Amino acid sequence: MNMDYTDKSVWSIDKIRHFLMNNVKQERFQHIMGVAESAKSLAVHYGESIADAEVAAYYHDILKDRNKEWLVSYIREEGEDPGEGLLAWKTLHAQAGAIFAKSEGGISNLEILNAVRYHTTGRASMGLLEKIIFVADFIEAGRTFDGVDEIRAIAESDLDRAVFESLNSSISYLRKKNEYVMSTSLEARIYYENLISERTANEKRNESH
Ligand SMILES: [Fe+2]
Ligand SMILES: [Fe+2]
Repeated sequence: MNMDYTDKSVWSIDKIRHFLMNNVKQERFQHIMGVAESAKSLAVHYGESIADAEVAAYYHDILKDRNKEWLVSYIREEGEDPGEGLLAWKTLHAQAGAIFAKSEGGISNLEILNAVRYHTTGRASMGLLEKIIFVADFIEAGRTFDGVDEIRAIAESDLDRAVFESLNSSISYLRKKNEYVMSTSLEARIYYENLISERTANEKRNESH
């Protein structure tokens, strides 16, 4: 995608960074910078636009420090329905972030907007940039959860499997805490599980020929 940085209606990287510094906690800012670094290196590795990866990473948690009420009314004011997100309000910042990137940041690239929108839940059949942001959010340098190094290693060779492992990790974390799991995440897990097993079956078939 060619982002026109001379277009005044599109926020520059500096403007987004400035907004972040004033609107998210310090720790969150560090996380966002970490996601941007991981996303850029995955973009290089998998042939995605580095600039798009950086922009999507910058927007992904831009509204993460807003409370539930603020997010719900923002989403509604902008003409969308928070829907199932009301049962899993920690996902609302992703929907709100995508709306914000478009209406405030002037982003029109749907791949960037979807990468922001689905970065928390994932979804079936994600595009390359969506997968990069989804995985980068999991493996950025500041993450320390059990199994993160394994996912980091997988991400270097098999992005779909890294998506699958990240989904598994996030779904079991939510279940352990008795929190609602969004249907998009469950669908995504089935989708990536099938994709990987079909791929493995095809590889075996090719080997035997
Ligand atoms: Fe997030
Ligand atoms: Fe994040």
